[in-house]
Amino acid sequence: MDDVEKVKSKIDIVELIGERIQLKKAGRNFKALCPFHGEKTPSFVVSAERQIWHCFGCGKGGDIFTFLEEYEHITFAEGLKEMAARVGVKLTVSAARTDREKKQELIYSLNHLSAQFYNYLLLSHPAGKRALKYLIDERKLSIPLIKTFNLGYAPEKDALVKYLIGKKKYKEEDLLLAGLAYRKGRYVSDFFRDRIIFPIIDHRGNTIAFSGRQLTEGSTGGKYINTRETPVYIKGDTVYGLNLARDGIKKDGRVIIVEGELDVITAHKQGIANIVAVKGTALTENQTRLLKRFAPKFALCFDTDPAGTEAQRRSIELIEREAITATVIRLPQGKDPDELLNENPLQFKKALSNDINIYDFVIDTALSESDGRSAEGKKRILERALPYLVTIENEVIKEHYLKKLASLIDTTLEALMRQADKDQKPQGQVAKASPRAQLPREELAEIYLLSLIFQSENPKQSLIFARSCLSGIILSTPSIEKLLSRLESYNQSDFNAKDFSVYLPRELHLSFDTAYLAPIPEFQDNEHFYHELEKAAKQVRVLAIKKNLAKLTGLISQAEQEKDEGKLKTYQEKFSELSRLLS
Ligand code: CTP
Ligand code: MN
Repeated sequence: MDDVEKVKSKIDIVELIGERIQLKKAGRNFKALCPFHGEKTPSFVVSAERQIWHCFGCGKGGDIFTFLEEYEHITFAEGLKEMAARVGVKLTVSAARTDREKKQELIYSLNHLSAQFYNYLLLSHPAGKRALKYLIDERKLSIPLIKTFNLGYAPEKDALVKYLIGKKKYKEEDLLLAGLAYRKGRYVSDFFRDRIIFPIIDHRGNTIAFSGRQLTEGSTGGKYINTRETPVYIKGDTVYGLNLARDGIKKDGRVIIVEGELDVITAHKQGIANIVAVKGTALTENQTRLLKRFAPKFALCFDTDPAGTEAQRRSIELIEREAITATVIRLPQGKDPDELLNENPLQFKKALSNDINIYDFVIDTALSESDGRSAEGKKRILERALPYLVTIENEVIKEHYLKKLASLIDTTLEALMRQADKDQKPQGQVAKASPRAQLPREELAEIYLLSLIFQSENPKQSLIFARSCLSGIILSTPSIEKLLSRLESYNQSDFNAKDFSVYLPRELHLSFDTAYLAPIPEFQDNEHFYHELEKAAKQVRVLAIKKNLAKLTGLISQAEQEKDEGKLKTYQEKFSELSRLLS
């Protein structure tokens, strides 16, 4: 057994995944809502026998390591290291670090050092005096708060470059790689200058990047600048403050999502810890999925300016798609969370407990933008609100909001519903259908047959029986036909799914896992099972024949047009031969 197998054999996949998402027993397997795509009915399956997982909605699947790679955003080697430590397996070959991992580790340590350096300058060096005064006097922060968030100050001159290269002996390339410096002719220069520094720390505690706020009004660059993307930082994949929000989220049961770093920090000052910032943009898909792992519910609290409202609307679209429960926290017009928290913390806390439904928010903002009394205004309001309301899954809730909107713009529910129907058809729909529903009928039937065979007590015997019902008809899906031929030539007397999957070529693994884990009915006895198997095989046969007949029909009409008597005769004979098989 190699290291990987040794570690795998000591970890139960059901336990490992069960620590991260809620699994429910379903027959021989466990089921859950898939953490990798949005869904409302579970299609994520974990098999204890095979120690694999598979999602029938998005098609992802694999073993404990692929799960950790997807779920924790870590590499295979990192997952192996972590799991080996968990079960006390000593890795024989210190899993050779890839080039990428070496780079990542270098950046983490550079970032860590830089954060400490910037923090020291802010708190203990004359160069940071003005910045410290700004944070305390104008932004109302305290020293402990500055320490909690490890805030810092980057001075005007190339202080960081001098420190890291001059003192710590790092190379120019290292600093460029980490995005801490940029090339300026023959030299490299600090990326952040005269800025307040906010280290961006991921949920595992690594300092992955920095955000820098201008200290001197009107100096060059934007008010905020961020580290460019590096091997450890993708802007749209992270949120600010998650490392400090995890416990708070658990307690409150929801995560508050704001725009800026200072909104997060000021909230902590008021004892509100379940809060993160998206940094001035709408939520991205990856941020949503990341947060979903920690929080069952989102509460959006964006700035009350047009940009904030628009970002919030776009976030709602995504949240709806990912099937997340969300509300909106509304602040008085023109107030950032940060301002209100300083001016009137009680009012902010009141707003927190008066969060409103996202659909109320959508309707309210649409109404506030246009005149609900004119025909033109009504049209515009519908355009802004209907696309959200029609996606509501629950029909009663949907009707509730449609009625509300109808009465607010003084129209009838019927007119609104008709408009919603018209709007909905061209888009939406297709994107929402699960990949399985789009498969051709014959393929679905073949997958079902395959599932019956592989989940039966004696797959080989089931296959022989199914083949007899198919009477020579070859399956129309090549990968399924291949899997069946593999089973036919599989010479072990006792079928064992694990050994069988080892013997399969990689490209057939997914089809096999699908068949092995797909839901099938429960059978009272063998007779019942064989009856279903026969039905399924005949169904496959009929569909395959029909598909061939359809093909022949096309060929026949083509031959007729070309007046090719020879071809026509052959096709027609084949056609009647196949038709006979159908009866
Ligand atoms: N932001 C960013 N990059 C930019 C602009 C903005 O990352 N180029 C993020 C910052 O996290 C910022 C947030 O978007 O906090 C909101 O931007 P803005 O409203 O412009 O900043 P304020 O919150 O008003 O900043 P402050 O309170 O510090 O004045
Ligand atoms: Mn702000």
